[in-house]
Amino acid sequence: MRVLFVCLGNICRSPTAEGVFRSRLDKAGLAERVEVDSCGTSDWHIGESPDPRAVAAAKSRGVDLSRLRGRQLCEDDFRRFDYILGMDHMNLEKLEAMRPAKSQAHVGLFLDFAGRSDEAIPDPYTGDDRGFEKVLDLIEAASDGLIDELRRHLDRA
Ligand code: 4NP
Repeated sequence: MRVLFVCLGNICRSPTAEGVFRSRLDKAGLAERVEVDSCGTSDWHIGESPDPRAVAAAKSRGVDLSRLRGRQLCEDDFRRFDYILGMDHMNLEKLEAMRPAKSQAHVGLFLDFAGRSDEAIPDPYTGDDRGFEKVLDLIEAASDGLIDELRRHLDRA
């Protein structure tokens, strides 16, 4: 199974999702069975480390984001990944527009897996530190829901 988290810059929300989700997969004993990555719809931060505020907030919850680097969404992602999860509606629109007709991937909003359908994980980039804590709270909730979903799939496989 392969999961890709997508936001605008790939320096705040999606690397946080990648780090938190990978850490929860590890605790769930599923790290060997699920691959995780993240990217941005924009080319603004290719090759950059995550935002220092995202790194600090994740570190305070025991998750290390420091080795992640920004990359941009590409068409091949629609062939490689089983789940492609946007953080907000703008990300989702971009995903739907780029998605090749043949793609089998589940494309949707990450917060659907927290039982919060059609809700966005707000962009914390221009706000204060509270925004980054909120992002983490939402990502933790959605990660647990996504783990339950993947477990159901893997049990059937
Ligand atoms: P992200 O946040 O999409 O969660 O990584 C942003 C990062 C950078 C910018 C906007 C949002 N920016 O305008 O550079």
